[in-house]
This record gives sequence, C-alpha cells and structure tokens, in this order.
Amino acid sequence: MSINKEQDFGTPASTALEQVTLEIDGFKVTAPVGTSIMRAAASIGIDIPKLCATDSIEPFGSCRLCVVQIEGGRGMPASCTTPVAEGLKVSTQNQKLADVRRGVMELYISDHPLDCLTCSANGDCELQDMAGAVGLREVRYNPVETHLHAVKDESNPYFSFDPSKCIVCSRCVRACEETQGTFALTIDGRGFDSKVSPSQNEAFMDSECVSCGACVQACPTATLMEKSVIDHGQPEHAIVTTCAYCGVGCSFRAEMKGEQVIRMVPNKDGKANHGHSCVKGRFAFGYATHKDRITKPMIRASIKDAWQEVSWEVAINHAASELKRIQEKYGKDAIGGITSSRCTNEEVYIMQKLIRAGFGNNNVDTCARVCHSPTGYGLKQTFGESSGTQDFDSVMKADVILVMGANPTDGHPVFGSMMKKRLRQGAKLIVIDPREIDLVNKSPHIQADFHLKLRPGTNVALVSALAHVIVTEQLMDEDFVNERCDVESFAKWTAFVAQEQYSPEATAAITGVPADEMRAAARLYATAGNAAIYYGLGVTEHSQGSTTVIGIANLAMATGNLGRDGVGVNPLRGQNNVQGSCDMGSFPHEYPGYRHVSDEQTHRLFEDAWQAELSWEPGLRIPNMFDAAMDKSFMGLYCEGEDIAQSDPDIQHVHAALRAMECVIVQDIFLNETAKFAHVFLPGSSFLEKDGTFTNAERRISPVRKVMSPLAGYQDWEVTQMLSNAMGYAMNYSHPSEIMAEIASLTPSFTGVSYEKIDQLGSIQWPCYDEASVGTPIMHEQTFMRDNGKGLFMLTEYVATAERVTKKFPLILTTGRILSQYNVGAQTRRTENNAWHSEDRLEIHPHDAEDRGLKTGDWVGIKSRVGETVLRALVSDRVQLGIVYTTFHFPESGANVITTDNSDWATNCPEYKVTAVQVSKVNQTSEWQEEYQAFSDKQLDLLAQGSQHD
Ligand code: SF4
Ligand code: SF4
Ligand code: SF4
Ligand code: FES
Repeated sequence: MSINKEQDFGTPASTALEQVTLEIDGFKVTAPVGTSIMRAAASIGIDIPKLCATDSIEPFGSCRLCVVQIEGGRGMPASCTTPVAEGLKVSTQNQKLADVRRGVMELYISDHPLDCLTCSANGDCELQDMAGAVGLREVRYNPVETHLHAVKDESNPYFSFDPSKCIVCSRCVRACEETQGTFALTIDGRGFDSKVSPSQNEAFMDSECVSCGACVQACPTATLMEKSVIDHGQPEHAIVTTCAYCGVGCSFRAEMKGEQVIRMVPNKDGKANHGHSCVKGRFAFGYATHKDRITKPMIRASIKDAWQEVSWEVAINHAASELKRIQEKYGKDAIGGITSSRCTNEEVYIMQKLIRAGFGNNNVDTCARVCHSPTGYGLKQTFGESSGTQDFDSVMKADVILVMGANPTDGHPVFGSMMKKRLRQGAKLIVIDPREIDLVNKSPHIQADFHLKLRPGTNVALVSALAHVIVTEQLMDEDFVNERCDVESFAKWTAFVAQEQYSPEATAAITGVPADEMRAAARLYATAGNAAIYYGLGVTEHSQGSTTVIGIANLAMATGNLGRDGVGVNPLRGQNNVQGSCDMGSFPHEYPGYRHVSDEQTHRLFEDAWQAELSWEPGLRIPNMFDAAMDKSFMGLYCEGEDIAQSDPDIQHVHAALRAMECVIVQDIFLNETAKFAHVFLPGSSFLEKDGTFTNAERRISPVRKVMSPLAGYQDWEVTQMLSNAMGYAMNYSHPSEIMAEIASLTPSFTGVSYEKIDQLGSIQWPCYDEASVGTPIMHEQTFMRDNGKGLFMLTEYVATAERVTKKFPLILTTGRILSQYNVGAQTRRTENNAWHSEDRLEIHPHDAEDRGLKTGDWVGIKSRVGETVLRALVSDRVQLGIVYTTFHFPESGANVITTDNSDWATNCPEYKVTAVQVSKVNQTSEWQEEYQAFSDKQLDLLAQGSQHD
C-alpha cells in the first residue's frame, strides 16, 4: 500500500503578482508570471510526466520527459523550464508526445536494474510511476549496464546510496545546493558515464555531507533511500506533527506503519521549514523507542536505595503525600517545580497552574532561565514584548544580516540554510563572535563581510561602539525614531553613546576588535536598506546578557530596522519550546502572557479562573531554589523534562542541593542525570506520544500530534493532572485542546488561538487577538507593544565581568553546540548521531596548544576557580589565541563543573560563555569525573536492581 503523498507541482511557485491566462488541453488556467507550464497544469489536475523536476528545486530541463506542444510554437519544449504566457494554447498529450516520452523512458530503463518487485522503493518510485504513465511495456534497447554493478555506499547511518539505480537526474545535487546549501554532491563524467558522487568521489560519511536528507527526499528512485524504509518497508499512513528538537520548529509528516515511525518527512506546507529539515529532526527519532526508556513509575526512600517499580496510583499518591508532608514540616514555600522548554505549551501551563494554585506559591521556573531569560527582559523593556520580531521568511528580504553570538548552521540548521540562500543571493553578512563559525568562510559561496572577533564578555562594549558610530556619524533614521520611539529616552541614549569612551577607538582595547572594522560594520548595518539582527546564547549567557539585548534593540530602533519584512531583532531560541514555555507563565514572577504576579487585575483574573487563592510574591528562581535547598528551606522539587544536574552551571553546587532535598520528583523519558538524585520517577512521553503545541522562535504555535500510544500509558499533561488531583487541587481536562482554550481565555495575545484554527491554518503566530485574526508574522508594524506604544531606548553601561583572566587562569573558556547533538544529549546520544560527534572536545588555538605541548587527541585538564574536568584536545584556529571552546552534550565531560555561578544582573541567566581557566596536558580523568562515573554506575545498578525486583 502506498501512502498519500503531498502533491508535487514540479517546479517552485512564482511569487509574482502579475497573472496571465492560458489554455492547457482546452482548460483555461490563470497563474502568476514566472510559473512553469508544468506547475500551471498541475494546479488544474493535469500531471505532465516528469523525472528531473520537483517543486522544491529550480527546474533543470534534462530528462525531456515533460515535453509539450504549444500552438504556433516550434518543437517540443520542456514544460518544467517553459514559463506560462498570456494566451498560450498548450497540449500535454498526443501521439507525438507519447512517442517521445516512451523513447526517453526506454533509455532510462535500459540502464536500470529491473527488480521493481523486490526494490525497497516499490510503490514509491517515480521511475516506476513514469514507466506506467507513458505506457512503457517493453524496452527495445539492450541493457547498457553502465551503472548496474556500481557499489552501494552504506556509510551514512541513516540512508544508503545505491548508484546502480541512479538515473542521473541531478535532483539530489540541486537539493544539496539550493535547499541545504552544502554543495556536497557533484555529477562526474558525461552522458551514459556520468554519475553522482559526494565531494571528490568520497563516501558520504567522509564528505562534506551534513546528513540533512534533502537529497534523499528529492531522489525519485531507490538510489538514495532511508535505511528505515529498506528495513521496515513502505509507510502506510502519515500524521503531521512538529520537531521536538530546536527552536526552528520544523513541521514533519510522521510516516507510519501501524504504531511504528518509518520515517520523518519534512512537511512542504510547514511555514517554518518549507519542506526542509536537519539530521536531528529527520533521522534522530530512534531515542523514542530506545531500550533505556523507563516506562514504569518508580519510588525509593533515599538515593542510596534501589528503585522500586510501582503502579501509577502508588507513585502519584506517594509524590503528593511527600510534597504535602514537606509543606507541613517546612512551610508552604518549601516546594516548587521546574518546567522545561521541551514540554508542550499545555504541559507547561498546567505545571505552573499546579504550582501556583495547588502548591500555593510561585516557585516555578524554567530552563529558559539559563538561556534566553535576558531576551525576555531586554525586549520587554524596550519593545514591550518578550519575543523576536519577525518570521523566518523575513530573512529573504534582508540586505544585511548581522549574526551575533549564534551559530545558525549548527544550532538552527534549517533556518541556517534559508539564511545561506539569502547570502548567496547577495545579502551582506556581519558576524560578531569570538569563534569562527561556519558562516564566516566555511560555507560554499558565502564569505562574511566582517567577522568581529571580540573577546568573550565584551558584547556590551562592542554594541555601544557600533551605536557610537551610528550616532556620531548621523546614520540614524530620525523619522522612525520621532514617530515610533520615546524621544526623551532617545536623546539620553544618543548623548550617552556619543561619549568618546564608547568610540570604537576607545573600546578596541576592551573588545579586541580593530576600531576600523567596528566602524565599517556599523556603517554597513545602518545604511543597508533592510538590516536584520539574529542572535543567540552568545549574547544572553553573560553577566550583562540583558544589557546586550537592550543594546541590540537600541541599534534596531535607532536605524529604523523594525516593523517590516527583512529587518528586526531575532533571538534564535535553542530548544523547541523556549518561546512557549516563557509565554505560558513558567517564570516565578509572571503569569501566562508575561503579566506580573503582583498586578492586581491579573492576579484577580487568575484567582477567579482557577478558583484558588494565589500568592502575590514572586517565587524562587532556579539558582535560588538550589541555595534554599542548602539552607533547608526548599526541600521538595517536581522537575519535568529538564536535566538540571547536567545543564546548570556550577554543577557540584546543583548536585549538593539535589542531595539536600527530601523529595525530588523527576518526570522524564530516561533516567537522566537529575533522576539519579530523585526519589520519585514518573515516566514521561516523547513528542511522538502526545498531543499539544510548541511555539518556535518566530512565535509560531504548531501542532504536536500523537502518532503512537504513550509507552508508559499516559501523556505528560495527564501525569501532572493526576499529581494535581492527588495534591487536592482538582483538574479535569480531557484533552490538551481544553487546556489551550483556557490559555486563550486568560491570555490576550492568545485569544484567537484554538486547536481548530491551528488545524485549519497549520500554525499561528501570536499575537492573535481575536477569532478573525490569523496571527502576526511581523511585530511592531505600527506601534510598539509598550503601554504608550513607543519604543524605549535604554542606557547600556559596560561593566566588565567579574570573571577575569589571571596568571593562574590565563585562558577564557566559552561554550556552544554542534549540529548532530542536542543540548544535554539525552535524546541524540541515544541515536546514530553519535557517528558525527561522540565526545565533547576542547578546541584550542595552535599557539596556545604549542605553549602547552598539546596535540589534537591529547587529554587536557581544564581547571577553573570552581572545578576541574578533562577532555581531549582539538587544535584549531577557529578559536582565537587565549580562548578555548567546548560543547556540552555529554555528562561525563563535566563542562558545567567548571562554569561559575556568575549570572546576568537582571535575570540570573548564568554566564556560561566566560570562564577563566588554565589548561594543561594530563594523563587521566579528573577527580570529579571519577566520582561522577562511580555515582552514575551505582545509580544504574540501583535502577537494574529495581527492575529485577519486579
Ligand atoms: S544529506 Fe544533505 S548535505 Fe548530505 S548530500 Fe544530501 S542534501 Fe547534501
Ligand atoms: S541519486 Fe537520485 S536524485 Fe540523484 S541523480 Fe541519482 S536518481 Fe537523481
Ligand atoms: S532545524 Fe531544528 S526543528 Fe528543524 S529538523 Fe532540525 S532540529 Fe528539528
Ligand atoms: S521534468 Fe522537465 S525536463 Fe525533466
């Protein structure tokens, strides 16, 4: 049985506004100028045979299967490369055309193995379909056998390449170039001898390929094929859902056989990804059914005891009675919860509701505390709303793209591909980053105009220097400022940044960036036409993270780069639902929709709706929870979907705090690092096992849909609801759509959001104020969201971080991500993605390495003021002299053993990006790593003992 596929119109849609009308096979059709005849025909249900064309890439015109005849025209043009024109009369079927097409197909088939019935693509092969469509029954030519004995390349863990089935249509090559922007594939040779090969005739895994799968999706035959399809056969049905990895929020069709996911295919209608994906979303879903999944609830009295599997009822009642016992013993505020940006909006909403209404305090926080809380603060203060201003598509209208402290090709790969496309079209690029990210000069046909290689921790000085140039060289958009912004604050700001101390020349010694480069970059940004800023955790995870966000907002307002396509301030959110978890009220001081807990009107609104007495006091932030645990005033924690024991800074302090608590309840799909300190384990459900919504970095609320039954029997929102009921606070939702209806009724920016509308439109970008609204792609078009509608300029004084390099700690450690792994790695480490990155390494500049006698592969000890860990070295000139860099995807790396408890002044977001360290060659792992390994092994043993018990 073949699955219902999305329609392939053959060539991409034209965006032209002008329309023309023509006749195809006697039917009138109107289409935008620039549309191909093939696409116009498909739009009225006439499918012209094709092989080398597909609507995700530009037409190429090589196979000549799609020939048509045009009245009064000469020959038989290819319909994929011939545009529509007013009054054309086109025939797509007649004897002559049929003969040509049969001849074309005969040639293809003569060089193709005739094993359709046993081929894994049987039923999903365009070559097979076209042979049928042109009525080919026999081949007159002898087999040419050019490709028939070509050897398969099985090197990629997720897909195979069988050149014997290749028809050299070059769809894969074009997909890799146009869609992904990696240019890993080429066609070697000519005519019958031509063949596709990765890079210089290498295996896929040895080539530049990043395993995005665009070529696999584009391939019309079984040449490039998912191994999961080869192993399990063709899928039978498909359900549209949303990727649970990064903040791009790609839409996917989960193609299924019964309850088994056969493959994830990016959805062409997905408005965030337009049919593209990365290696994580498309291929790394195997963790959901990994043998490490824990599917039975478990309890234990202390973390020295073996786990005991119990029924859901016992686990929930035990958890509730422990939380109540702690409140009786230590007070109402002695318990709280941590939500996660991996959870759905609905899960986060009822979690914070349980804490505020059921626990009776505001001790709820989220992992956004440790990533984008400064974005929330900085953009709320300046623009009046805690979110990015644009949709992703906006980048296609940008003339200058400024990327600061972000690495889109690794952290947000699908958006990174879109950005690369725009850069290949000619947009200018400014990168502000201590390290050389791929966009600087490692992406084909892209070269950054400026790479401002600043010292970690000096963002504010750099942003102020850019502002200094813009103000003193009169590069501002004063009309925009006068009309849209608070002019008083603008006057103060211009006077502030115009001071000589903020000039590039004066700040160069601080930032390490040559003054002339800062000046030139500022001029480019301010005079571009459309200039857009994209930033990431390299901006927020600093002691002055909020100040830099404010500085960025100031730059955009001063130059009028807000409120239209192609501009804006765009935080690239790390996890899938960072935006949503913040929107849903998971900060201790804010109800859903960023309204302060002490705001009288809001407070009463929620008390009435929730029928509970609510606290007026903001609750504890995550670091305060840890401190309170050490003081014995915070003794019970409910932690859902978050791995604080790996992801939070100064990890030894976090571990001590977790050990100090009397009841730690972890709800997760694996026994993660935090669960090793837990007393109650409530098995969670993966994104494939639940209904809900995620909100991506462009405020897009997208559907998450259950494609398989929850392995542990319940979806996560049901578990929270059971715990709430057991605590004595009643919740009676029967479906997440009811939770969304409640969110909409209590949150102005969500008023017009409903499951019905999401299903109808595919997704909705908030704000969506009423029933009629279909959402808001671009924010602040007419006015800012602040009470008076005016954008506010704020002063950004540079204060050097307390984390200084000294003789003892002469290097700065900064951290980041890699494409194939995801955050703490709990999911991706349980997939074949380890083939690309199986350990975290320390990147070190060749001179720093030489000074220490280090070579790539050597073990290096990295010691900060708070701890020490050991990694292997990777000598690389991507990092500057004096700076070392690592990723943090493996718990045993202990990257957070060395990060300090310094944090952002406004939000407590940890200063992950600046740690002064010493680095030296060692022969063994650190003391912490040995202790961690012993503790972790012991915990896995206690888990095994518990399961045997059963
Ligand atoms: S998987 Fe992606 S990067 Fe690799 S060859 Fe195919 S399109 Fe290119
Ligand atoms: S591998 Fe597939 S897409 Fe690429 S040229 Fe061969 S048949 Fe076409
Ligand atoms: S870019 Fe992000 S959302 Fe899209 S497939 Fe990759 S991980 Fe998933
Ligand atoms: S589909 Fe038009 S030439 Fe191949």
